Amino acid sequence: MVSEAALSHIPGPPAPPIVGHTLRIVRDSYGLQQTSIARYGSVYKVKLLGTWRVNLCGADALEMVLLDQHQNFSSKVGWDALKRLFPGGLMLQDFAEHRQNRRIMQAAFRAPALRDYTHRMADAMQSLVAEWPVGKEFLFYDAIKDLTLRLGCSVFMGLPPDGDLARKLNRAFINEIRAALSVIRYPVPFTPMWHGVRGRAFLRDTFRSLIAERRAAPGEDFFSQMCLAKDEDGKGWSEDEILDQFNFLMMAAHDTTSTALSTMIWALGAHPEWQDILAAEVAQIGDGPLDNDALALMTQTEQVFKEALRLVPPVPFIPRYAIEGFTWKGFDIPAGTAITLNPGITMLSPEFFTDPERFDPSRFSPNRAEDQAHKFAWTPFGGGAHKCIGMHFSTLQVKLFIATLLRKRRVALAKPSATEWQRMPIPQPKNRLPVILHHVATP
Ligand code: HEM
Repeated sequence: MVSEAALSHIPGPPAPPIVGHTLRIVRDSYGLQQTSIARYGSVYKVKLLGTWRVNLCGADALEMVLLDQHQNFSSKVGWDALKRLFPGGLMLQDFAEHRQNRRIMQAAFRAPALRDYTHRMADAMQSLVAEWPVGKEFLFYDAIKDLTLRLGCSVFMGLPPDGDLARKLNRAFINEIRAALSVIRYPVPFTPMWHGVRGRAFLRDTFRSLIAERRAAPGEDFFSQMCLAKDEDGKGWSEDEILDQFNFLMMAAHDTTSTALSTMIWALGAHPEWQDILAAEVAQIGDGPLDNDALALMTQTEQVFKEALRLVPPVPFIPRYAIEGFTWKGFDIPAGTAITLNPGITMLSPEFFTDPERFDPSRFSPNRAEDQAHKFAWTPFGGGAHKCIGMHFSTLQVKLFIATLLRKRRVALAKPSATEWQRMPIPQPKNRLPVILHHVATP
C-alpha cells in the first residue's frame, strides 16, 4: 500500500496519531464522510487500520471504478481482510479467473433454479415465522438472523432447518463471520479469529462430506447446484473450489439479507400506512402458493425493499485496490492505492433523491424513478463484474418473508423513537429492534 507521502497532494481530515481515523469511522462513518465531502470535495484520504485510503465519492466514481474499463481495480486485494477465512470466494478473485468462476456459479442462479429455491423456502419460512411470539416483545434483528441462517440450511444445503447439524453449522458460521470483521487478524487462542478459523475447519469438513452424496443424488438446494454447476464449456469445480465458493456464498447472503429485512420491518413499524399498503398487496395475491409468479405481483413491497436498501445499505462501502496509477477529478492517484467507494452516502445525495433522509418508497415508482437519474445513483448491489449475483434471489426471499408475515401478523415497534443504525462493520439496529407482533384481525 502507498505511504502518506505519496498521497500528500490529496486532502483529508487531520489524522490522530497511530489509530488515524479508525475510531471515528467505527463510531460515525457517515458523519465523517459527510463533513469530509463538504470540506474537501469528492476525493479525500483517511487512515483506517494503519492503511491510508483514498475515498472516491459519488455516482461517477462508482461507475468508473466498478465498470473498470482498463482492468485496473482489484477486488481481490481490496477485500484482502476477508482472505484468511474466505479465500477463493468470487469477490476475492479478479478479471479472467473471476469471470470463469462467476460463469460456473451463474448456473446455480438461473430462473428454474430460483423457482426451486422459492418453493423450498416457502414451507420452511412459514413454520419459522410461526415460532415467533405474538403479543410479546422480542428482538427482531436476533430473530431474523436466526431465521435466515436456519432457512439457509434448508435452501442452501438441503438440511432440515431445526436439526442438530444445522445448529452446529450455524454456530460455526457465526464465529467465522465475527472473525472476518474482528480487529485482531491472527488466530491467537480464544480470540474471535481463533474461533473463526476453527469454525471454518468444521464447515469445510462438513461440506466436504456432503459433496459425493450430492453429486450422486442432487437435490434442489444451492449446494447440490454448485456441485453440479458447469460453465458453457462444461467446466465445473474441484472439491476445494466448491468449499471455498460455497462458504463465501453463505457469508455474502446472510448478514446482508438480515440487515435489509430489519430495515424494512423498522420502516413498516414506523410508517404503519406503508404496512397497510403492503398488507393489502399481499391480500390481493390471495391464499395460493407463494411462488415466483405470485411474488412478481408485489411491486409495492419491492419499492419498500429498494428504499430500505437506500437508507441502510447492507454494504455501504466497496473497497478496491489500484493496480496502476490513474487520474480522477484532477488528482493523480498512485499505483498501489487502497480505494474506498461510498454507495451508502451516494444514495443519500440530494443530487438524485428528493428529501433523501425521508422514507419515501414511491420515489421508485415508474413515474418518479429517482434511481434512474444516474446509472450508479442507486447501487446497494454494487455494479460491473462483481455486481451481487444474489440480487434476484434476495428480492424473492424478502418478498416471501413479507408475504408470509403479513398474511398472519402485523408488526409494531416496541420502542418507536429509539432506533439508530450502526453502520460499521455490518449495518444493524443499535437496539436490535425490539418489536411486538399481533394477529391479523379476521373479519
Ligand atoms: C440485500 C441483500 C444483499 C446485498 C445488499 C448484497 C450486496 C452485494 C454487493 C454490494 C456486492 C458487490 C461487492 C463488490 O463489488 O465488492 C455483492 C456481491 C456478492 N453477493 Fe451479494 N448482496 C445481498 C445478498 C446476497 C445473497 C442472498 C447472495 C447469495 C445467495 C449474495 C451473493 C453474493 C456474491 C457471491 C457476491 C460476489 C459476486 C462477485 O464477486 O462476482 N448476495 N453483494
